[in-house]
Amino acid sequence: MTDTYLRGSRIALCVCGGIAAYKVAGLARELTQAGAEVHVVMTPSACEFVGPLTFSTLTGNPVRTELFPESAPTEIAHTDLGRTSDLVIVAPATAKTIAKSAQGLSDDLMSALLLSARCPVLMAPAMHTEMWFNDATQANVATMVGRGVRMVGPAVGALAGPDVGVGRMASVEEIIAAAEEELALRSELTGIRVLITAGGTREAIDAMRFIGNASSGSMGYALAFEALRRGARVQLVSGPTHLVPPEQADTVRVTTAQQMRQAVIERVEDVDVLVMAAAVADWRPASSSEGKLSKGEGPPDLQLVKTADILAEVGSRRKAGGLPNLSVLVGFCAETRDLAAAAAAKLHGKALDVAVANEVGSAQSGPEVPTLNALVLDRDRGPKELGLVSKRALAVTVMDSVAARLAEAGPGAE
Ligand SMILES: Cc1cc2nc3c(=O)[nH]c(=O)nc-3n(C[C@H](O)[C@H](O)[C@H](O)COP(=O)(O)O)c2cc1C
Repeated sequence: MTDTYLRGSRIALCVCGGIAAYKVAGLARELTQAGAEVHVVMTPSACEFVGPLTFSTLTGNPVRTELFPESAPTEIAHTDLGRTSDLVIVAPATAKTIAKSAQGLSDDLMSALLLSARCPVLMAPAMHTEMWFNDATQANVATMVGRGVRMVGPAVGALAGPDVGVGRMASVEEIIAAAEEELALRSELTGIRVLITAGGTREAIDAMRFIGNASSGSMGYALAFEALRRGARVQLVSGPTHLVPPEQADTVRVTTAQQMRQAVIERVEDVDVLVMAAAVADWRPASSSEGKLSKGEGPPDLQLVKTADILAEVGSRRKAGGLPNLSVLVGFCAETRDLAAAAAAKLHGKALDVAVANEVGSAQSGPEVPTLNALVLDRDRGPKELGLVSKRALAVTVMDSVAARLAEAGPGAE
């Protein structure tokens, strides 16, 4: 493993109060020697095990331990570090700190930092076997993994005292290898232009009323975050949603299916990847009233007409050789049953490279909840049933497929 990705990276190293804290001094030294700028944050418990002076000497940077420092801070440490780091490493990650993170608590510097981190987070758990296998810990770990946190270890081996079992912190080498992988992702899609659609559309009945759908936009926004995380240039065409788009994305707001079509068609010639995650209306009222219809006039006689099928239009233009830049075309479909058949029909019917079918209409899977029962079908790799996953985890899988296809397409696409 080379040190390419560590060199020049800014790493927040969070040290918790476990016996393995002494080994993290070695990790701090290795990261610093590899060229990373390492900023250590310690919990009060961690300071019981290793002195902050050890880390400040090894890294050449001051160590932060307090949310409310006595001297006036030159920066807002509890949010600045999380927002400006390329990677956060928590080692050893204690049962308590994992639990606090899962709960979203921010009652000390480290937990506030973890809550504000915009970059990937690696955790290296270390604790006694009983603590690790406790249902509470396992549920907290599952929550964090679902939110995109990567767990390294724990390994099997000697624990504190005479005990041996699962719960030993992963080795410094394993943690560094995982850090390298996470940092490598940052440049995976550098230079790649990605267009993503998100949210539902609204088709007017009158000045106030519309036909809409339950799409929240969170899947498309998760895809935008993931593409940005990998270094892509992202344009996000978003239907109405309360979500805040990522700052680095070039966001275009639209309301109707027609506006979404226009926004996509205007941009699609100059992108490498199009991911259509929006729930675009299939029908719209044939006509709409400029003013508000009066209730007293009775229910309007709604005639519906088909809207443009954006994905089919893009797919057939591309098939005819009209979109030479577009290397990867991804489409989503929401289904109440038989995801595999729906994905296959979408893939072939719209000439897609990757089709994602997700279940709607159940309590655990759908637009209103953060999880989806999903299946990803890559044209050349076959189906991947993911089961119930977070939208963030699904975004990671979709972008993995996109990156793999771009890599196969050759240097022109890389
Ligand atoms: C000697 C000793 C060793 C400990 N080792 C661990 C450990 O490896 N993992 C863990 O989760 N807690 C361990 N603990 C308990 C934590 O220190 C305790 O839960 C503390 O509140 C963690 O706080 P922090 O996560 O804010 O650092 C240990 C405690 C003692 C006294």
